Amino acid sequence: MGIKLITIIGARPQIIKASALSRAIRTRFAHQITEVLVHTGQHYDENMSGVFFDELAIPQPTYNLGVGSGNHGEQTGRMIKGIEEIVLTERPDFIVLYGDTNSTLAGAIAASKVYVPIVHIEAGLRSYNKTMPEEINRVLTDHVSTYLFSPTQTGVNNLIREGFRTDNQPPYTIDNPGVFNVGDIMYDNTLYFAGLAKQKTYILERLGVQPETYVLVTLHRNANTDDASRLNSIFDALLILVEKYRINLVMPLHPRTLKQMSALLSPELHQSISTHPAIQLCPPVSYLEMIVLEQHAKLIITDSGGVQKEAYFFKKPCIILRAETEWVEIVDQGAAVLCDADPNQILQAFQFFEGPTSITFNPIYGEGDAAAQLLNLLIL
Ligand code: UD1
Ligand code: UDP
Repeated sequence: MGIKLITIIGARPQIIKASALSRAIRTRFAHQITEVLVHTGQHYDENMSGVFFDELAIPQPTYNLGVGSGNHGEQTGRMIKGIEEIVLTERPDFIVLYGDTNSTLAGAIAASKVYVPIVHIEAGLRSYNKTMPEEINRVLTDHVSTYLFSPTQTGVNNLIREGFRTDNQPPYTIDNPGVFNVGDIMYDNTLYFAGLAKQKTYILERLGVQPETYVLVTLHRNANTDDASRLNSIFDALLILVEKYRINLVMPLHPRTLKQMSALLSPELHQSISTHPAIQLCPPVSYLEMIVLEQHAKLIITDSGGVQKEAYFFKKPCIILRAETEWVEIVDQGAAVLCDADPNQILQAFQFFEGPTSITFNPIYGEGDAAAQLLNLLIL
């Protein structure tokens, strides 16, 4: 008989994470598990979505809701309607949701109302900052989930603080949920694709940078991109870094950031950033190209959750452009520093990592077998 999953993807990191689960199903659970992929269309540019399917061998989605961009309510509402229809037609045993985007929340609302058990991958992460749309999405999703698969013990502890129990016994239900630390599914991908990425080292030549001589930067959180003062501060700091330390920057730009740079940066700063010979701005890159950029960077500056962790996986120091992080272990290990959007803190952290530091990159995100572990629990 086996079980049928509907997996919801929509934003770039969810598409990437889905490759690990689809691969595990294809290679180890093909006789027991059928997966139906549903793309909400939250991300739709070729370099934010399409590029990952071929490169990471992700099956083409059976459904694409084509929801596109919009205000939170409008975007999430369209997704809920579309997902509900699919769930009622497909009648899956479980719906699988990743992370904390609007696609995640839409899946949670749609599935919980029609009694389809929710499997939440990346459960329990908290920033304890409810001004983040992602914090709302993840808290609400966790509280209607049946299986909560956390990537870290911190995540499990956060859930326990919210009243979840780790001693519930099967059968798990929305009122008797199962909470497990299975490790981080992104680590599955890093281990699997790190070797394959060697084919993509041309990206360094294309961007005109040498290994270990550049800082890789990504920026896309709405708190940074949509606030003129923070956005200008961050780019001020990046410009100072380049000039003071004679370092190159490589910055694949999320479409949101590209748009807001034109709208919100002072004309002088925008001009300096866009024309500086040591700053390589480029469109979003593919996952394997991104891995190459991470593997060869001297240091990584980011506000991305995924990129913070990949910095750690590749043993690179990281400057986090936020005041808090869900991935607290990285900061606790001394491998990353929270600098908010403050130029002084950013420059100090850079200087610190330039000095003689010895960071230990202990394995804190599991064994790289999160997909297999969680699928084994689902088929019990
Ligand atoms: C979303 C997630 C965020 C995640 C990020 C990953 C929410 C609330 N936020 O943020 O948690 O870290 O994805 O990248 O779900 N755009 C395009 N082309 C695209 C996609 C987006 O041009 O293919 C532009 C549009 O102007 C859009 C803006 O980017 O309005 C923001 O996109 P959206 O999906 O709403 O949020 P992200 O910032 O991408
Ligand atoms: N990524 C990518 N190309 C890029 C930038 C990021 O493939 O140009 C990958 C990155 O390696 C990581 C994931 O996208 O696996 C992180 O997604 P993002 O930063 O968009 O979102 P977050 O993780 O913050 O939700």
